[in-house]
Amino acid sequence: MNRTFKPDGPLRGQVTPPADKSISHRAALFGAMNDAPVTVRNYLDADDTQSTLNALRALGAGVDESSPGETVIRGVGLHAALETTEGRLDVGNSGTLLRLLPGWLAGQAGSNWTLDGDESIRRRPIDRVADPLRQMGATVDAREGRFTPMTVHGADLRGIEYTLPVATAQVKSCVLIAGMLASGQTSVTEPAQSRDHTERMLARARVPFERDGLTVRVSATDELELEEITVPADPSSAAFHATAAAIVPRSRIVLCDVGLNWTRTAFFRILERMGGVVVGELEQPQDGNPGAEPNGDLDITQAPLEATEVGGDEVPLAIDELPLVALLGCFAEGETVVRNAEELRVKETDRLAATVDGLRGLGADIEATDDGFVVRGDGSPLRGGTIESRGDHRLAMLGAVAGLASEEGVEVLDMAAAGVSYPGFERDLAGLLGD
Ligand code: S3P
Repeated sequence: MNRTFKPDGPLRGQVTPPADKSISHRAALFGAMNDAPVTVRNYLDADDTQSTLNALRALGAGVDESSPGETVIRGVGLHAALETTEGRLDVGNSGTLLRLLPGWLAGQAGSNWTLDGDESIRRRPIDRVADPLRQMGATVDAREGRFTPMTVHGADLRGIEYTLPVATAQVKSCVLIAGMLASGQTSVTEPAQSRDHTERMLARARVPFERDGLTVRVSATDELELEEITVPADPSSAAFHATAAAIVPRSRIVLCDVGLNWTRTAFFRILERMGGVVVGELEQPQDGNPGAEPNGDLDITQAPLEATEVGGDEVPLAIDELPLVALLGCFAEGETVVRNAEELRVKETDRLAATVDGLRGLGADIEATDDGFVVRGDGSPLRGGTIESRGDHRLAMLGAVAGLASEEGVEVLDMAAAGVSYPGFERDLAGLLGD
């Protein structure tokens, strides 16, 4: 499905982006590990999070989606009373499911589950979760040692002290989940803070855990005590509309009920630094309740942008939005530089190459570096042209936003990819354009 996005705007009005993908995955997974049923309000209805529900059904959990806006998960308990102890699980396109679920499966002694997914999943490394799980006592077989199909042979796990080579919330989460099933205590230290939704979910489920700087410790647990969960709108999905509003002349929009957890909102801080007008209460690191996921409205107004530099600790906190920083850089005065972002090479696509090639094809002055990119803008719009999503939802939506602010429009090849995280994207964008 190809779509053309012509120059258009301004964007006006308000929209509530779809539910947060990261929190939805965790809500379903923790719900399946809970003994009592858990109601999840505003669970994300998209391809990735449907893959999670399907995998949990295959593992024996009940999933009731009959009430609109409410998904009820009937769990099998942390020490899963699984009906069957082996089989194949299809993770579809979901890297998060691929990395989090093995943490639970590894602790089910006597079970053997094989995880596999689509073409993109088959290119994404899993040694990063296999290594710590093996250290904990599980056996993990994988194609060439690091790709799916991967088989997790559950075992009686032991707690470890694990230092992550790169800051990734997916691997941190996998080890913390396995840690609940392991003897003693498990600690995970990351080189920089990554999104902390799993830690907040542990707090909500009353699992004994503590944070000490960049180290999180979790102890062996018998059961979770999870109550209902409401999922806020996804700041990563909101970022596409925010970018459009920041670069399409005379735009002003309000994004409603957006998750404002500070480990997810670095993109909005970057946008502000570039001169974008962002009004809203972004959570601060020291804020309160350990289990809460704050949410609120963000008001975005178009303004002249200046180049910026992004690197170091800010990278994991804006990892999914860095392609949008590249697009903002095309419209900003000066040279925007992103460093330390080599993780982008192992996302749904090689997102460094895909962003640089894609935007260059639309007329951008952008170059890849070893660990990021440099983009030069002079405040004038992009020419436009054709961009291939390469099956990556975030590239498809980036192409659409670029089109609105371009001179000639942008044709996005395979726009359907957006359905992985945001099936209603085109409808919501049209709403903001007054169509
Ligand atoms: C995610 C973490 C990020 C992000 C992905 C979702 C999560 O990956 O890119 O879209 O839900 O934990 P890494 O933490 O592996 O960088």
